[in-house]
Amino acid sequence: MACKDYIDTNDFTKEELLDMVDLAIAMKKMIKEGGEYPLLLEHKTLGMIFQQVSTRTRISFETAMTDLGGHAQFFGPGSIQLGGHESIEDSGRVMGSLVDILMARVDRHKDVADLAKYSAAPVINGMSEYNHPTQELGDLMTMIENLPEGKKIEDCKLAFIGDATQVCVSLMFIASKMGMDFVQFGPKGHQITDGGLQVENKVDLLAIGQENCKVSGGTITISDDISCIEGADFVYTDVWYGLYDQEEEGASYMDVFFPKYQVTMDMMNAAGPSSKFMHCLPATRGEEVVDEVMDDPERSLCWVEAENRKHSIRAILVYLLKNAESQKKAANPAVAADAKAHINKVLSKF
Ligand code: CP
Repeated sequence: MACKDYIDTNDFTKEELLDMVDLAIAMKKMIKEGGEYPLLLEHKTLGMIFQQVSTRTRISFETAMTDLGGHAQFFGPGSIQLGGHESIEDSGRVMGSLVDILMARVDRHKDVADLAKYSAAPVINGMSEYNHPTQELGDLMTMIENLPEGKKIEDCKLAFIGDATQVCVSLMFIASKMGMDFVQFGPKGHQITDGGLQVENKVDLLAIGQENCKVSGGTITISDDISCIEGADFVYTDVWYGLYDQEEEGASYMDVFFPKYQVTMDMMNAAGPSSKFMHCLPATRGEEVVDEVMDDPERSLCWVEAENRKHSIRAILVYLLKNAESQKKAANPAVAADAKAHINKVLSKF
């Protein structure tokens, strides 16, 4: 049985993740080129919990549900009782019985994991301090749509530049799962192996990636020597200022990262003459990346990457809800007919 929730891509096989991308690309084509909507989630409701702000993730989930014939409810920071007056356990039980599927962007990874534990409905991790798995699938889709001539995804090299954010860690997970060569070019103290962003029980992030590599044949390199990015097909970066309550003052992070880790056209060319630029966004222009790279129509994939959040999230929603449906007892038409007759009897009194 496939995993009920989408908390971590390490819970899925390479084939399952590629099936989701395949579905995402087919639905993108059907809607954008065919002008038709696959109404696969009629009468389904998504509950969206956001403990942090969001542009791309929130809009993508809400639009995806509309596109598929379903509906999304938004619960912004402080708008529901999650983990405050009501425990995560109780909220998970209740919310999982009120909606068909939940997504949560949380302050602490444990909260989304606990929500999944207690919710009968599937739960999607919309980003925690540990990982960003919906971003991962959108990024995988973007790379697959933009493969260099003659290469498969497992032949490609992905270079992440800068801080070991949860996006960096997530890219290591998906790249190692796919059998790619993954590189983090970042300063000591901000490398994946430094453990700054590990979850409460101190997961060994690199060990997870290395386990993936044993199966897939991928490789992982972490270095502060720029030569490690040579031959990269995709050059990816994220903001430098830390995450959530670990945000750093500008002067301190600029001292660490600037100018060595700023993605410039020289750095893109050091990777290779046709390397493509990626960024999860939002970007801080002039810090981790310069305008010339971000706005280059040939080299920058960051805008299509942002749009692919919506296309890939549609596939995650369909995958989980179809899987949940297949686990349920089949609908009983006789029960529906009885209930309908009873409703009509009651209504005849009004
Ligand atoms: N990349 C990403 O998750 O963007 P948002 O924070 O705007 O959702």
